[in-house]
Formats: sequence, C-alpha cells, structure tokens
Amino acid sequence: MPVCHTGGRGFEPRQPRLNPPRGTTYPAPPATAGGAFVFPGSEPTSDYHVPVLAAAVRGWAEGGRRAVDATVGGGGHAALLREVGAEVLAVDRDADAIAAARARLGEDGIRYSTGPFGSAKVLGTVATFRPDRILLDLGVSSHQLDTTERGFSFRPGAPLDMRMAGGRGITAADLLNTWPVERLAQDFAQLADERRAKRLAQVIVKRRANAPFASSDDFVNAIRETLGPRSGPSDFARLFQALRIVVNQELEQLDLALPALRAALVPGGRIAVITYHSGEDRIVKNAFRDWGKACVCPPGQPVCTCRGRPLGWVLTKRPVRPGTAEVRANPRARSAQFRAFEVMHEA
Ligand SMILES: C[S@@+](CC[C@H](N)C(=O)[O-])C[C@H]1O[C@@H](n2cnc3c(N)ncnc32)[C@H](O)[C@@H]1O
Repeated sequence: MPVCHTGGRGFEPRQPRLNPPRGTTYPAPPATAGGAFVFPGSEPTSDYHVPVLAAAVRGWAEGGRRAVDATVGGGGHAALLREVGAEVLAVDRDADAIAAARARLGEDGIRYSTGPFGSAKVLGTVATFRPDRILLDLGVSSHQLDTTERGFSFRPGAPLDMRMAGGRGITAADLLNTWPVERLAQDFAQLADERRAKRLAQVIVKRRANAPFASSDDFVNAIRETLGPRSGPSDFARLFQALRIVVNQELEQLDLALPALRAALVPGGRIAVITYHSGEDRIVKNAFRDWGKACVCPPGQPVCTCRGRPLGWVLTKRPVRPGTAEVRANPRARSAQFRAFEVMHEA
C-alpha cells in the first residue's frame, strides 16, 4: 500500500493519548512502512516508489530530447522521460536506487551516474550530456523509507543512520551524540519549525550522557519527553525529516547544484524541481525568481553591474500541487510542489 512518509504534516491516525508517569520510557509507535502510516483503502501502484505529479512532469518534459533525472530513485519519472522520447541520464546518490532503476529500465536509451547531483563528478557528466530537460524530485523514496536498516524511519528499532549514500558521511546517531545544544536547537527550529527546539536539544544532551543514541526509539523518547504525551507521528515525522535533511546536507546540495544544473542546459532547455519541505521550496522559488529578473544588483546601486538580462522565465507562476485524487491514492504526494524554469532560447 502506498504510504505517507517524508515528513508531511498531519499523519493519521494520531497516537492515542498517553498519560504515563514522569520518566517513563515509551516504545516507539508501531509503523507499518517507513515510520509511516498506511492509509486504509489505498492500493499500490509501484513496489519501489510511486512517482508524484506524473502529469505535470510529462507535460513539462514533452519535446525533450536529452533529459537528466537527477534523483532517479525507482525510475518512475525516468520511465516517463523516456516515454516522451528523451534519452535519459539517470543520477542518484544511492547506489541501491541506481541498481533498482537499472533493473527496471535496462540500458536502452538510458545511462546512469552514481553520486550527489551537486558533486563535481555528476555536474561534469551532466554538462557533457548537454541536456534540454533536468528534473529533481527531492527527498527520499518509499523504498529507502521502507528499508528499516537504512534508518530513515521512526519505525521501532530502526538504527539512526539516514545516510542516502549508504556507508559514507556522518549518521543521524553521530549527530545526536556529538552536536552541541545550540546547533541541534537551531536545526530543529529552522527545519522542523519546532517551538521547543532548545528544550529538545537539552533533553538530547542530557539523555546521551547516560547512553548514546542508537535507535529510532531513543530519538522518539527524547521527543516525547520534550513535547509530552500528546506528541505523535506528525511530530516524529517532522523532527526525523529535519535530522535527515541535516545528515545529507540536502539544502546545501540544492543551493549549490541549482545554478550549475541550469548552466548545463542547452538554450531553451528546462529545469523542474519537486520539493517536499518548505526550506527546499524556498531555495527553488528564490533561485527561479532571480534567474527570471533582468537585474539582480543590490537595491539602490546606481549602475547595474550584474548580467543585466534575465536568464529565462519561470514556467510555473504558482507551484503545481497534487489534486485530491492523487493524494488519496498516494498520500506521500501531499506536500509535493512542482516548479519549472525555461532558460533563454538562442538570440
Ligand atoms: C523521491 S525519490 C525520487 C523518486 C523518483 N523520481 C521516482 O519516480 O522513482 C528521491 C531520490 O533522490 C535521491 N537523492 C536525494 N538527494 C540527492 C542528491 N543530492 N543527489 C542525488 N540523489 C539524491 C534519493 O537517494 C532518492 O533515491
């Protein structure tokens, strides 16, 4: 069954109210998939991942000849890009995702590159490919969430790992066990809109002095100690998502990669991004808005010293969001926002 998992708000059902004595350690809530709740009555459309906003992606991709899917995941969007007649360069920082996409899509009209889309290696490969379409569908796939040992979920007993690229870089446990209160508090406040961020960070530091954080239950217990017995899956989801974003430096990657990806497009080419978090969407919205302006000099500067011309235009005045039917069929899509930009055609 499709699941809602990547940290969208309002997971259902909420945890039953608990009123335990102070100091009680709570078991993490049961979760059937990826620390997420299965929505009754919905049916699967893919084992690995259900591609979101497929109609918007297809419409945007029409006419493309050379398309980069910079976050190939299970290959759902890549399959669409190939269906519209484009040759595809499929990228993912997760080697398992590349293997799954390869198993599904084979080698016909598609090539693969493993690595973060903001890395020099991938950006070089993309530039050489000379794409006219580049798609980013951010976040994690259902498959990543459903694989307990990858540690993306708040499913009981999941390790606090959360690294998209398998064994490389710091884990969520490393971060919770070593970062100072201020840094933890800042991330919970900024990335999870957590009003009690400072208190949560203090609880984490107090708890890790007794025993290091190792599993999802440790983080869930710290959240419950901070937010109280009424806290539930929606709180766990947004705080786990914040941790994942930090572990994978997701916002930094996006910020870094967007201008380089745009620069790799051939004249008249298009880039589109599907976001699931307000921080991601802000980066994309601001980048596209700036690219569409003729002048980006600081206000009040007497003479324009910037490029003095727009780099193209925004194709989506407002972000495209999934309709009710899509959200019903695939609750994961509920927080998705699709934005697209087209670079200047040759003069
Ligand atoms: C939402 S899934 C993509 C699903 C895909 N569009 C589909 O239809 O199956 C996001 C994928 O992007 C990958 N990813 C996230 N950030 C990345 C980055 N900076 N570089 C490369 N891949 C990334 C994740 O590993 C994951 O496989």
